[in-house]
Amino acid sequence: MKPKVLLYKPLPNDERQRLARHFEVMAFDGFHGHNEDEFLAALREAEGILGGSGIKLSTEQLEQAVNLKVASTISVGTDQYDLNYLARRNIPVMHTPGVLNETTADTLFALIMCTARRAVELSCMVKEGRWKQTVGPELYGTDVHGKTLGIIGMGRIGQALAKRAHLGFDMKIQYANRRRNPQAEQTYQASYMDIDNLLASSDFVCVMTPLTAETEGMIGAREFALMKTDSIFINGSRGKVIDESALIKALQTKQIRAAGLDVFQQEPLSADSPLCQLDNAVLFPHIGSATVETRHKMITCAVNNLIQAMSGDLSQNCANGHLLKNIR
Ligand code: DGY
Repeated sequence: MKPKVLLYKPLPNDERQRLARHFEVMAFDGFHGHNEDEFLAALREAEGILGGSGIKLSTEQLEQAVNLKVASTISVGTDQYDLNYLARRNIPVMHTPGVLNETTADTLFALIMCTARRAVELSCMVKEGRWKQTVGPELYGTDVHGKTLGIIGMGRIGQALAKRAHLGFDMKIQYANRRRNPQAEQTYQASYMDIDNLLASSDFVCVMTPLTAETEGMIGAREFALMKTDSIFINGSRGKVIDESALIKALQTKQIRAAGLDVFQQEPLSADSPLCQLDNAVLFPHIGSATVETRHKMITCAVNNLIQAMSGDLSQNCANGHLLKNIR
């Protein structure tokens, strides 16, 4: 008998068939009010689960998953799970780092360009028939090339962003990270510094740290006050890494010039959010890795991860492997 897995994210046919060759698949189009009973019943039977970062399964729900052996997510972020809790149950959480670095860095660079050159605001002006005369200084943007980019979180995606900025746009790179990144220092002449210095001296600040107990709320009113008044803030990590109300205030009062956001405290962002009223906020609907090519690669990776981990191989892409080792 094939092991049962609970799938709660749509898969393309090829990957869906591959999954079905290895497992008995209990498929759901997500987890919502309409399917709660059936979903939880399937969760109780599942030995494996395969979903994404958009659906958070609480510890109480996971407690019902008494047969669970492996959780696999089609995302690099794993903040939707309590990794410690799952490690205590000896359940590996498998994720998809690597395959999305370049695409996510493209998205971050798009936010940098759109905020600096006011691309979305000015495009709306044209489409809404408000372009009546040559654009004057009140609508000028600011240069990107040659400026200083501060990256908080110099992991794989941070490094892919540094590559674009340094090699393509001649930007000076500085970064803050738990540990130094010699490769970024050598290849992109990135300077290592503490967060306060980075905030105070960067023209663009881009946050790319994972959401953890340590990073939650790490950028708030105090940090925005440290930034230069003409600087631009970019968040491509998770909304909860910043204090969103403090950011809104900083944008409203022009304490900073603009912000480009791909992530929010509550997703989807409500149209009532004050962010939606701000011309100096460029808002993307969490599309960091959302291209046809990359999402397919992530799905392939997550299906591979599930197959391998179910057969006991945790050698690649296990997000809580360090915690499991302490227990075993
Ligand atoms: C990730 O991979 O974590 C992205 O945020 C998409 O969910």
